Amino acid sequence: MNNEVVLDKLSEFLMVEQCGWQLYRVVGERASDPELHERYEEFGRETDRHRTILTGLIRDLGGDPDYVSPTARLAQAKSEALLASALVAGPLGEAEREANDLENVLLAETKDHADWELLSKLIEQLPTGKTKTAIEAAVAEVEPQEDEHLEWAQTKLATLGLQAIMGQTSPPEPDRLEKCVIEPDLKIKQVHPAPMDKRNLLETAKLPAAEPTPASRTSTGA
Ligand SMILES: [Fe+2]
Ligand SMILES: [Fe+2]
Repeated sequence: MNNEVVLDKLSEFLMVEQCGWQLYRVVGERASDPELHERYEEFGRETDRHRTILTGLIRDLGGDPDYVSPTARLAQAKSEALLASALVAGPLGEAEREANDLENVLLAETKDHADWELLSKLIEQLPTGKTKTAIEAAVAEVEPQEDEHLEWAQTKLATLGLQAIMGQTSPPEPDRLEKCVIEPDLKIKQVHPAPMDKRNLLETAKLPAAEPTPASRTSTGA
């Protein structure tokens, strides 16, 4: 096992937990749906505990928890982008804003879940010893919680989407796009020209459909 690579990974995983904890604080404060509020608080507390566990694991493996690996910096940049989208979503209606916050949680938890899955797979590769025991103890406590975080976020996001589609939440205001700014004079459509109608399609949407592959041309006799 390359200890340096493991410590770089653990630094990245710690950053994911730190940023996840921060995300739960932001979305938890403004969630009006009682279930969302309660779950964000609960998962935020568990994420805080995951930070502590990873800090201990890094020390157990001879590392320094204050070290920030290059991929940890990337993880931080990705998380900051998620939080930036939370600001963009500010002027949207409540249902859309809450769905966007939950989608950010789902994205963050997908990465968080993958990190612990990797540690769980790593255990299978390690010989008996101190390192294996330390990772096993961490995974045993955290992995079931990561399963729950991800499953809940997926299910709840689908529920919120269905409620909105079926008209069970207040309809969004038609001019809400105009109100979405991420800086005082910068409209969201200048940053992200989403295809609102045929005149404003993204460039890629105007391209012809992909050519059939050589294999499919042969099978159809073309
Ligand atoms: Fe976590
Ligand atoms: Fe998580």
